[in-house]
Amino acid sequence: MSEPLRAPRSGTAPPTGRGRSTSSADPLVSIEDLRVRFSTSRGTLHAVDGVSLQIPDGQTVGLVGETGSGKSVTARSLLRLVPRPPGRFAGGRILFRPKQRCPRCAGDGCADCDGQGRIPISCRSCDGAGCPVCDGSGREVIDLLTIPDRRMREIRGNRIAMIFQDPGKALNPGLPIRRQLAEVFAYHRAEEILRDAGVARESTAFSARLLRRAAGMRSRTWERALLDLPPLRAHARRLDAVLDERIAGVLSDTRISNPAHIMQSYPHELSGGMKQRVMIAQALACDPDLMIADEPTTALDVTIQARILELIQELQQRHRMSVLYVSHDLSLVRRICHGVAVMYGGRVVELGPADDVFAEPMHPYTRGLLAAVPTRGHRRGGLQAIEGNVPEFIDPSPSCRFESRCPHATRVCRERDPELKTKDARGRHHVACFLYDEPAELGVASEAMPNGEVR
Ligand SMILES: Nc1ncnc2c1ncn2[C@@H]1O[C@H](COP(=O)(O)OP(=O)(O)OP(=O)(O)O)[C@@H](O)[C@H]1O
Ligand code: SF4
Ligand SMILES: [Mg+2]
Ligand SMILES: [Zn+2]
Ligand SMILES: [Zn+2]
Repeated sequence: MSEPLRAPRSGTAPPTGRGRSTSSADPLVSIEDLRVRFSTSRGTLHAVDGVSLQIPDGQTVGLVGETGSGKSVTARSLLRLVPRPPGRFAGGRILFRPKQRCPRCAGDGCADCDGQGRIPISCRSCDGAGCPVCDGSGREVIDLLTIPDRRMREIRGNRIAMIFQDPGKALNPGLPIRRQLAEVFAYHRAEEILRDAGVARESTAFSARLLRRAAGMRSRTWERALLDLPPLRAHARRLDAVLDERIAGVLSDTRISNPAHIMQSYPHELSGGMKQRVMIAQALACDPDLMIADEPTTALDVTIQARILELIQELQQRHRMSVLYVSHDLSLVRRICHGVAVMYGGRVVELGPADDVFAEPMHPYTRGLLAAVPTRGHRRGGLQAIEGNVPEFIDPSPSCRFESRCPHATRVCRERDPELKTKDARGRHHVACFLYDEPAELGVASEAMPNGEVR
């Protein structure tokens, strides 16, 4: 298994080797020093404040933390779904390295794609040779924060898809499921549908245009009337049949029973679990490189939660996609994630492979969160809650964001920002806490340092 999460600072450094061929070792997504602020009547809220993390190819990364810690704003930033105003991106980059189906094995996995079924797309500027645009990696790199809106729309729902907490709100109550799924294919896959229906090369330019608009669901009323007459009617029906096949295919992928019936249903006719499966089908429709799941099971009852989780895990492996899994449920993240980033006050305070972070949590906040998780055999009343609530970080002064709740806080914690630093020999586990720093490094007396058991 490749390294789940790399150190933010080593990750932001440009690769040294120029001119190498496209590498699948580069992470799919690198979030670098992301800052998102909201203007409020009380001042500027620093909702995301210097977040750096990476999402490797084909892995699941968990983003955990209490309410208001900045998980959703970080996740939504990847798709530029932060409302602006009142929000604004105040700094940082989100680099996305898209992939494509391996042409040799069509996704099954072969030697060319290291069994991954997907291969990196070569940098447009250097065709894979390595240039400053791709930081020498030879791989197509897109800064999601700066591309034009049109390009963002091409990526959203296509290369990066998202499923939300409440499928009831995310689905349109007034449209049948078929129509909602058809829109995704029409927006991103119209050419493929024309090709599969065998109508890509229509005899006249006029009918080709009509069919192209039909495949993109952009037909006007008079165009629909023409499509209902011979000779175009047969072609239009073939388009519909191909679309139906694709929709039934993605619905079956989610193991929903009776896809043909579901397609004709409206959201209110489906249970919460079924709606979430439809949302997942919608997200998978275009075989994305990354699926963002923001608390996808919170609105569901416990037995359904487990099944949806299993499904996400299974689909992640089958489609060999990466998943960013946002949750406040640590035991769940421990079960399904390769890497984990713990957020507090808009910052990542601990980051590393899930096994390492859960076996040896270093940050007092992570330890507090874990102490509050019920485990098998814990005594009644044996759980410890973290004292206090997450404050709002309006125009914050430099300090550790956790100092108001930390049992180890000293003056240095109130006056300075701890940096996220690598704290293990393998360079994979990172923590932002002065407990692990040397007084000489900080230039303070040892008495001023926070005190606590560090291991
Ligand atoms: N549209 C907005 N306008 C103003 N403030 C916002 C907006 N969206 C989010 N925030 C603020 O940004 C901070 C981070 O919010 P975010 O939604 O990322 O939290 P979260 O970690 O996802 O919490 P939860 O677990 O409750 O979903 C919060 O203080 C929130 O109030
Ligand atoms: S010891 Fe200091 S730096 Fe570490 S979490 Fe507590 S307040 Fe923050
Ligand atoms: Mg949230
Ligand atoms: Zn292959
Ligand atoms: Zn290049």
